[in-house]
Amino acid sequence: SFTNSSTTGKTLTVAVEPTFPPFEFQSATGELQGFDVDLIQAIAQSANFKVKYQNMPFAGMIPALQTQTVDAAVAAMTITAERVKIISFSRPYFKSGLAIATRTDNQNITNFDNLKNKIIGVQIGTTGALKAKNIPGAEIRTFNDSPLTLQALINGNVDAVLNDQVVILYGIKSGDLKRLKIVSSLLTEEFYGIPTPKGSPNLDLINQGLATVLKNGTYAKIYQKWFGT
Ligand code: ARG
Repeated sequence: SFTNSSTTGKTLTVAVEPTFPPFEFQSATGELQGFDVDLIQAIAQSANFKVKYQNMPFAGMIPALQTQTVDAAVAAMTITAERVKIISFSRPYFKSGLAIATRTDNQNITNFDNLKNKIIGVQIGTTGALKAKNIPGAEIRTFNDSPLTLQALINGNVDAVLNDQVVILYGIKSGDLKRLKIVSSLLTEEFYGIPTPKGSPNLDLINQGLATVLKNGTYAKIYQKWFGT
C-alpha cells in the first residue's frame, strides 16, 4: 500500500483496483498511477487529508464501503441510481459511457442489436455487466478485471466486450490492445463520482477538495496529462 506524506490531516483508507488504465493502474515498476490517483492526491492536498490505498477487486468495493472497511474508492465508478441507494458519491468528476469493443476483423457486429445471441465479455460488478443483461439470447462471460475481459476478446473467447469507452480507447492507443476496435457510438451516458459510505462525514471534505481543484486549474492539468493530445 502507498501513502502520501505531504499532508498532516486525518488518513482516509481508499479502495483501488489498479487495472483500469488510464484511471488507476501500475507502472512497470509497480507504482500506482492514473487520472483518479492524481485527482485524489490533489483533493487530499487541498482538503488536508492523507490517503492510504487498499487494493481490492472492483466488485468488492461497494460491500467494503457499506461495511465502512474503506472510507472511499478511486475506481472510475459510475454514479447509478441503484448504487446511490446503498452508498454516497461526491459530485460528478468525469463524463463517461459504455462502448462495444470487437476484433478489427469482425464485420458482423456494428451496433448493439447485433449482440443478440453472441458471447459477451464483461467485468463483474460493472455498468457494462448490467447493460449486457439486456441483450436477448446473449451468453455473458464475466471476468474479475478489465484486462482479463479484453484479453478474452483478443483471444477469441468472446465476440464482444462492453466496457467504458475511454478505457478501451486508451488501451488501443497505447498499443496494449492489438487488433481491437470500437464499434458504434456510446451506449450510455455515465458520470464517475468518488464513492463513500452512505452519509459519510468525509463526503463534504472530498467535495470541497474537488471544488477547489476544479476551480484552481489542477483538474485541468491532470486532465491534460492523461487525455491531452
Ligand atoms: N464505470 C464502470 C462502473 O462503474 C466501470 C468501472 C470499473 N472500474 C475499475 N476500477 N475496474 O461500473
